[in-house]
Amino acid sequence: MTALQKAESIRARKAGLPIAALTAYDYPSARLLDESGIDVLLVGDSLGMVVLGFPDTTHVTLDHMLHHIAAVARAKPRALIVGDFPIHTYDTPAQALETARCLVAAGAEAVKLEGGTRQAEKIRAITGAGIPVMGHLGMLPQRVREEGGYRKKGKTPEQIEAIREGADSIIQAGVFAIVFESIIPETARLLSQSLAVPTIGIGCGQSTCDGEVAVLTDLLGSYPWFVPPFAKPEAEVASITRAAVASYISRAQHIES
Ligand code: KIV
Repeated sequence: MTALQKAESIRARKAGLPIAALTAYDYPSARLLDESGIDVLLVGDSLGMVVLGFPDTTHVTLDHMLHHIAAVARAKPRALIVGDFPIHTYDTPAQALETARCLVAAGAEAVKLEGGTRQAEKIRAITGAGIPVMGHLGMLPQRVREEGGYRKKGKTPEQIEAIREGADSIIQAGVFAIVFESIIPETARLLSQSLAVPTIGIGCGQSTCDGEVAVLTDLLGSYPWFVPPFAKPEAEVASITRAAVASYISRAQHIES
């Protein structure tokens, strides 16, 4: 399947089976997730926090993203690979198109950027060049410093209207799906029901969107130092790792158990 066909098949899930997406930042994770049947592998700029140890995503550079997208692409997954735009690499339509081409050259099959109406022209430039674009509305992590923290969105009629307006303009510009982040469940459900493309929720409550995305380390319990309140770990990889390393140290140091 071509990248466009893969993106189209995700768009077509609006009326079908909910979409299961996860972040992936390296080759083994991409292979394991793909072998498990995931629909979308998002090389998110969350890698700045959960892989590179920065306090937020605003420290991520294009070089970081290209390095990790290339690792994920080497797994040759059946799932759609979506590469995130890092901050300040899509400030103008021309810059957005140039960055999108770099992300695709590294192995992304689609790209994702944050924001609504102000991004429509940039999205048009990218989709016009045949590159599928995923939107991202609600809490925008690249604005966390301006906003002074991670806050829930879609609480007031004005906020709901702003998200709806943003969604309408990026849909018109050609996005094939939109990530909804930290939008309160009632609003996420209401908007998802009326938008023409699938919404993929994180921190929006259970079954309120057309699919879900999670940060892999939140799912696996492998980044115990910060766990978002909405995370639902399915494993405890941090404690398994500590126990395995403790056993290894005992073996290496010839300590009898
Ligand atoms: O960077 C990322 O992992 C994301 C998800 C939170 C959707 O954008």
